[in-house]
Amino acid sequence: MQFRKAELESLASLHNINVDFSHHKEDSPFLVVQLENDQQAIDLVKRGILIKSIYELWGQGEDLPTLHKTVQNTMSTYFEENDDKDNLLTDTFKFELLTFLGGNKTPLKQQLELFDSFKYLPFKGRVRLKNPQQTYSILQNYEFNQETQAPENDPNYWYMGRLVCLSLRSRGVLEKLEISKRPFYGTTTFDTELSLVTCNLGLVDNKKLVWDPFVGTGSFLLAASEFDAMGFGNDIDFLTLKGKKGKRIRHNFAKVDKKQQFGDVMCMDFNNCALRNDFQIDCILCDPPYGIREGLKVCGVSDPEKMKGKETLMINGELAFLRRDYIQPKRTFSLDLLLDELLQFAVDRLPIGGRLCFWMPVANDEDIPTMVPQNKRLELIYNLQQDFNRWSRRCLVYVKRDEGFDGVSATKEDRGKNNFRDRYFKSFSKASKPASNK
Ligand SMILES: C[S@@+](CC[C@H](N)C(=O)[O-])C[C@H]1O[C@@H](n2cnc3c(N)ncnc32)[C@H](O)[C@@H]1O
Repeated sequence: MQFRKAELESLASLHNINVDFSHHKEDSPFLVVQLENDQQAIDLVKRGILIKSIYELWGQGEDLPTLHKTVQNTMSTYFEENDDKDNLLTDTFKFELLTFLGGNKTPLKQQLELFDSFKYLPFKGRVRLKNPQQTYSILQNYEFNQETQAPENDPNYWYMGRLVCLSLRSRGVLEKLEISKRPFYGTTTFDTELSLVTCNLGLVDNKKLVWDPFVGTGSFLLAASEFDAMGFGNDIDFLTLKGKKGKRIRHNFAKVDKKQQFGDVMCMDFNNCALRNDFQIDCILCDPPYGIREGLKVCGVSDPEKMKGKETLMINGELAFLRRDYIQPKRTFSLDLLLDELLQFAVDRLPIGGRLCFWMPVANDEDIPTMVPQNKRLELIYNLQQDFNRWSRRCLVYVKRDEGFDGVSATKEDRGKNNFRDRYFKSFSKASKPASNK
């Protein structure tokens, strides 16, 4: 749930809209905000993933008579105060009833009676159920009854408003980018909805170059293409980048008509970064390897003794390690150290104000706070948590600040023994041990 507010705040900041979110309640699906005009409402919501829609609020109340009273109050001055809204009088329109937790409690006949009860509204346009110019929505909130474990019979709150904008979610983006519809995906492919939310948290837009340093099957870049950013990335695993059955990341872009938003991906070990020092990136999004479904590896050897003399190995008169088909040895590495490197990468590559967003697993096995990595030049603005059974994952969002900013530093050493992989497997093996006979 914390994700929803973070997404809205990010969208407000992307469009420089001043919004007071102090009325936001984690357990309510509705939020009333004060905005200057329709354009601000559209900017705030049109690319939203965790929000469905935004309405110009005409009335609200605990029951229908109160709702009508407040709508009539609004209407008494609405058209005098809003000269630009005269078109509403003649536009085609429809009414709709939306409920939260209410299911289909209201039979069609009653719904029509409900819509008819608003006939005092001064509309002269025709009713059109398909593609009307205006939609007027009645929104009902039902409370959940803990005793019966079912929603109450009657709504406990009503709103009525003019639909201003449907979010990207409500316009079908999740269906469009569904993983199973992509020509290329794999076991590490990141969730569609959360990839899009991560883009919103990262302020991805059409002027930005987005980099994923653990790109895998490219979920974040594909999501970023929806916002017309240019996507680039790297991965240590050549086979992933090569794709399967002739399909690879770029085919996913082509499938959704975003070919031009795919920059490129390269095979590179993040721990041995080959990018030019002055290469700047606007936004970094990733899901680093945790070592559960995919190994965290870096180039190098665990036992240098075993490699002695191999540097001079020749194949067909060529030094083996200089050949194009050379596959370099790899060794395991610590996720904690890699995360410190990721933060430093962000400090080196992002502009001031640029964002780094990444997902980090945390084990729920011990009752100790999990310390997240921090770097003095990055401000951690969100630490959002998604809970699973024995572990949770966090989405961490950092903003690069200028030299005057003296933030917190928490490197691997400060964080202590926090190796997620060890703890993850330990907690699972503990859970699967038979109970003792004591
Ligand atoms: C959790 S997956 C990322 C999945 C990706 N978000 C997707 O949607 O498919 C982590 C990726 O990091 C890659 N990786 C592991 N070690 C790496 C390293 N040292 N440098 C770059 N990539 C690495 C793995 O090959 C894997 O593809």
